[in-house]
Amino acid sequence: MSQTQSQLRLGAIIQGPSGNMSAWRHPDAQSDASINVEFVQKLAKQAEQAKFDFLFVADGLYINAQSIPHFLNRFEPITLLSALALVTNKIGLVATLSTSYSEPFTVARQFASLDQLSGGRVGWNVVTSPLEGSAKNFSRDRHPEHDERYRIASEYLQVAKGLWDSWEADAFVRNKQTGEFFDASKLHTLNHKGHYFSVQGPLNVGRSPQGRPVIFQAGASDAGKAFAAETADGIYTRQETPELARAFREDVRRQLLARGRSADDIRVFQGISVIIGEDEAQAEERYQQTAQLVTVEKALEYLGRYFEHYDFSQHPLDEPFPDIGDLGQNSFRSTTDTIKRDARERGLTLRQTALEAATPRPGFFGTAEQVADGLEHWFRSGAADGFIVRGGTPTAFDDFVEQVIPILQQRGLYRTEYEGNTLRENLGLSEPENQFAVREQQALSA
Ligand SMILES: Cc1cc2nc3c(=O)[nH]c(=O)nc-3n(C[C@H](O)[C@H](O)[C@H](O)COP(=O)(O)O)c2cc1C
Repeated sequence: MSQTQSQLRLGAIIQGPSGNMSAWRHPDAQSDASINVEFVQKLAKQAEQAKFDFLFVADGLYINAQSIPHFLNRFEPITLLSALALVTNKIGLVATLSTSYSEPFTVARQFASLDQLSGGRVGWNVVTSPLEGSAKNFSRDRHPEHDERYRIASEYLQVAKGLWDSWEADAFVRNKQTGEFFDASKLHTLNHKGHYFSVQGPLNVGRSPQGRPVIFQAGASDAGKAFAAETADGIYTRQETPELARAFREDVRRQLLARGRSADDIRVFQGISVIIGEDEAQAEERYQQTAQLVTVEKALEYLGRYFEHYDFSQHPLDEPFPDIGDLGQNSFRSTTDTIKRDARERGLTLRQTALEAATPRPGFFGTAEQVADGLEHWFRSGAADGFIVRGGTPTAFDDFVEQVIPILQQRGLYRTEYEGNTLRENLGLSEPENQFAVREQQALSA
């Protein structure tokens, strides 16, 4: 095992004030966190000082009055990360963007541009948009069906990767004497004509210092995993136990091998929430203080969002979770499957299901030592290559940085300095070859 693989990796979520949907009401919360640039810049610098691999910005394309408060008024991810690129030097910048409601040329260009201006620190969390309502914001009659969204995403990524290979790394010679601005043999035109997209190229941004942005994927259904195995460098997932997480990671790694990739070409990140106290009782008190801010009405709205904004308030609260058929299959499929299965197997009422969804008890909870022990166990048992961390209360991320990271560093489980300058280097991922240059090379040696 190389030095980097013996260490776990960390991402930090930027998503409003840390904590549950109502954490903005907490006395310690910055209530406008989702739209406050000073707050976000401070968080970015704090995460970089703590040597986090990357900042991670989630996103969505549809809101209504029942949406989570910090989804109602927030920065668009690429815009936000452009601002953060200029106040940081080493930390990676991962933006969520949907392949169901955008054009590959525009998006490949935006990411290439951000990758250039950040010196090769960009990642793209490729999502397919779970929310049906998104169609109404993009002049569409219908939201594409779940598995079709992944077929679109697959072709989309082929196009984006082709566009990012438009220029070889040393294409721009800018020779003032000869007048040669670029080496024409290092320019490649994609000419893609596929089922969903027709894109000629080339891209009007050169190759980035890390070759191309790091690709993340965040869906856990079979179609989602297959898409990740085909194209991603990183996965963002949430599994409830180390056993389930290990099975998930092994499955993905097996699928990579089946596609001719190396199992080590991917990093699996578990999304975790943390609450830290001087002892367990204090951590519990902190959890309760934040959980109590969520009313059952708000919890029903939170739950409803996963199920196409279904109105759960029409059902009795203290009876078993209602039978709502296939609702959710075309949106957050893997999440809604888990919620329904859990409610059925554990005999939960609607009230319990909603409150558990909206105020989840952090998986990593207790003293800083206990949290570090938990992370070490998950990492060493092969359940995760790293973690995407979210504070379970508005101050829990500070506690994680100040108390848990030093323990991980003392145990040799976490870096004390960045290994490189690009996100790929810091994640220990190899730089991708230029597909056109490889093909030309193969043709020459054939
Ligand atoms: C951990 C996790 C994080 C996600 N984050 C986002 C997000 O920020 N924006 C988004 O549109 N979808 C997000 N999704 C939704 C997925 O991209 C996907 O559309 C949805 O989960 C359905 O796919 P699946 O059934 O394969 O999980 C996330 C899903 C998971 C599991």
